[in-house]
Amino acid sequence: MLTALEQVAGGSTLPAHCVVLGAGGASRAVVYALGTRNEVDRVTILNRTVERAEALAEDMEKITGKQISVAPMEADAQARVFADTGLVVNTTSLGMHPQVDAYPLLNAKAVHPDLVLYDTVFNPLETRLMREFQAAGAPAYGGLDMLVFQGARSFTIWTGSEPPTDVMKEVVVRRFV
Ligand SMILES: NC(=O)c1ccc[n+]([C@@H]2O[C@H](COP(=O)([O-])OP(=O)(O)OC[C@H]3O[C@@H](n4cnc5c(N)ncnc54)[C@H](OP(=O)(O)O)[C@@H]3O)[C@@H](O)[C@H]2O)c1
Repeated sequence: MLTALEQVAGGSTLPAHCVVLGAGGASRAVVYALGTRNEVDRVTILNRTVERAEALAEDMEKITGKQISVAPMEADAQARVFADTGLVVNTTSLGMHPQVDAYPLLNAKAVHPDLVLYDTVFNPLETRLMREFQAAGAPAYGGLDMLVFQGARSFTIWTGSEPPTDVMKEVVVRRFV
């Protein structure tokens, strides 16, 4: 996710406080990646099932040594944490095909132009959540690059060779999206 974000958004410095929507498998990978970056002091996880987020936060605090906070996926909580971050990563499955109209934004007014959204959803390439952020002046990027780069990383670990990520991306777009 971080390689993807760096490539599409440019620059490599993350905000001290990052926000992650969702607490499932994708969230675990994202919270770990964010929490192991030096410039990140704190990650807040917002999730529908708060207990699941709490369990993840406990694990990730132990592994990363960073403060991992938890909040419910509610409008007030979104307003509070979005006001205090520069990066929101969506790891919920809301918006993923075929539920393309679903999106985990409960407070559109909470979105401001100093936010960057990374939506891990890759099908469709542009999600409704991305459109909501863009409408509020916030740059928004989709999950296709993350999908490709994690596949490329696995390929390199298995074979020792660098795969052509542009060809991989073309194939994903042609076959699956
Ligand atoms: N780009 C990539 O390479 C990549 C890789 C993996 C996954 N992903 C994306 O990540 C998504 C999640 O994958 P996962 O493996 O983490 O799935 P998961 O473990 O099933 O987690 C799903 C998450 O979505 C939340 N959620 C589901 N339905 C919801 C609803 N109606 N309202 C609010 N929250 C809801 C769940 O909340 P609860 O805990 O409350 O159920 C949970 O936090 C995938 O659909 C895909 O879009 C992308």
